Amino acid sequence: MSTINISHAAEELRAGNIVAIPTETVYGLAANAQNGEAVAKIYEAKGRPSFNPLIIHVEDIAQARALTRWNANAETLASAFWPGPLTLVLPRAEHCPISLLASAGMDTLAIRMPAHRMARELLRETGFLLAAPSANRSGRISPTRAQHVQEELPGIPVLDGGPCEVGLESTIVNISGEPTLLRPGAVTVAMLERALNARIRLHAGSEILAPGMLESHYAPALPVRLNAEHANPGEALLAFGPSDEATLNLSESNNLREAAANLFAYLRALDTPAYTAIAIMPIPEEGLGVAINDRLRRAAA
Ligand code: TXA
Ligand code: MG
Repeated sequence: MSTINISHAAEELRAGNIVAIPTETVYGLAANAQNGEAVAKIYEAKGRPSFNPLIIHVEDIAQARALTRWNANAETLASAFWPGPLTLVLPRAEHCPISLLASAGMDTLAIRMPAHRMARELLRETGFLLAAPSANRSGRISPTRAQHVQEELPGIPVLDGGPCEVGLESTIVNISGEPTLLRPGAVTVAMLERALNARIRLHAGSEILAPGMLESHYAPALPVRLNAEHANPGEALLAFGPSDEATLNLSESNNLREAAANLFAYLRALDTPAYTAIAIMPIPEEGLGVAINDRLRRAAA
């Protein structure tokens, strides 16, 4: 539908909205990564029935160092390939300000510095860290032109930066420990190995991980009881909608975006030996509720 310029895109992001942005790899669907409700809008627009961790886009290496437990391999790869089509997965820093929803509750963060001029200008102008998955609906291929985004996600404002130069999603490598390739891309294994002067592990089973194959997810240590109307003695009650007994409330006003934004942070907060279990009130199986319930079922399994 509408294409916008950089200052308009910055305005939308400041208002907590999402915009499609060009990067050198593919177009991304971006939100301020520190604003959980804005991040929830990304999942909503993609229509994905579950939460997948998102890539955080930064303006410079200093930001990446501050957000993660940075290490020597990160320094080497970032200086060799950033800005560019390489995403690094690292442990989150202790007081990492990125919404837990953006990393789907995980302790790691996927991070990259994009090379596209307009993406970089937008990062500079807003000062935001931008969470951005590819700007396609769930299950569809990544858009490499503004027009693809407009066809696929009508109503989402698009910053038109022309055709994407690389046209393939970024390479993803987990360097929390032994470097492991999670997704192949324009930065090849050979290039990574040369820079690190070490071998890169391909993910187990020799088959390379495709997006979405990452099934690791956050699970609380305490038992989780779903569809609870009340807490039993000793249990914490994670409420949804009005409740007098809530230990924490995902959204008193039945707002699914607010609930998604609070979900992982509240599960973590309740996951302490102070309780015997986490009882969770029912969440409607509609819109973002489908993805919330998917995560809750996994947490309860
Ligand atoms: O080129 C790209 O990377 C584009 C542009 C917009 O930057 N973005 C992109 O995002 O392809 P997306 O969401 O379509 O793919 C991100 C992949 C997903 O497969 C996700 O599982 C993985 O990154 N990922 C994100 N956070 C992760 C983490 N903490 N650990 C492992 N994998 C992670
Ligand atoms: Mg994608």
